[in-house]
Amino acid sequence: MLRRTFIGFAAALLMGTAAMAQNYPEKPITLVVAFAAGGPTDVIARIVSEHMSKTLGQQIVVENLAGAGGTTATAKVAGAAPDGYTLIMGQMGTHAAAPSLYESLKYKPAEDFTPVGIAGITPILVVAKKDFQANTLGELIDYVKANPDKVNQANAGVGSISFTTCILFKSITGIPKINEVAYKGTGPALNDLVAGQVDFMCDQITNLAPQITAGNVKGLAIATVERSPVLPDVPTTKEAGFGDFQISGWNAIMAPKGLPAGIQAKLADALNKALSDEATAKKLTDLGTVVPNAEERTPAGLAAVMERDSKLLEGPLKASGITIK
Ligand code: MLT
Repeated sequence: MLRRTFIGFAAALLMGTAAMAQNYPEKPITLVVAFAAGGPTDVIARIVSEHMSKTLGQQIVVENLAGAGGTTATAKVAGAAPDGYTLIMGQMGTHAAAPSLYESLKYKPAEDFTPVGIAGITPILVVAKKDFQANTLGELIDYVKANPDKVNQANAGVGSISFTTCILFKSITGIPKINEVAYKGTGPALNDLVAGQVDFMCDQITNLAPQITAGNVKGLAIATVERSPVLPDVPTTKEAGFGDFQISGWNAIMAPKGLPAGIQAKLADALNKALSDEATAKKLTDLGTVVPNAEERTPAGLAAVMERDSKLLEGPLKASGITIK
């Protein structure tokens, strides 16, 4: 009797979930960006969600909830209802680096989220203000080592991609501790770099390409195997003599854990259609963002990349000795 009641309950639950997925989405969807407007996470979220909205037949509203290197908003989304109406544009910082830096992070990337897929892969560059003393990566490293008290490095807060990748850059090149200025995103950080308020930073290409091309900041090196087609004059870190510093970021759509499989599949399909759309892909590639391949844009592909980068970053980040309680 008890067994029959349980089976009946489970079947009703399953049917309810199936109906929910079938009718999804019935109202606008919120896509949380855990950083300020105008930065790479925000720009990629807006480009991709515009096309996804068309496929899904509902508006996707991008909401910027910046703070604590993206970890505050990420924790908030982890605790939201897994109904497909609250999503997050997670990224390598919040979902691979932050666990190695925060002692009591309020979420576990792999356990608390349902992956949808990667929306954009973002080569990292080292950039300096346009009248900075150094004109090459080597000159920047030498200058910062000789003048550690005089230099300010911008980032988007502890755990962000800009913060994390510059830890790697500094540890590989032997740069000592310097003054860091944390912003709510690299959108506002870049504004200050252009204005000459800070000296340099490590950031994703999406934000930087137009400003480097316009000569508003100096692109010293790109941390990828090959030069970017949108920045043909910027040497790779290997060409600059520091080939050990190679890294790209990524931005990816996720939902709170427990998202029904049918909704996950609809979102993954909409993401795939957005990235397969020529005009949408061009908006991303014009900014140097690499369009994820067929595997990377799937839930399984995202889960694999998240696991890979969490492992990759754990050693160097823990070795940096930076821990936030
Ligand atoms: C980061 O450093 O993680 C990002 O650039 C943040 C942002 O999108 O502003």
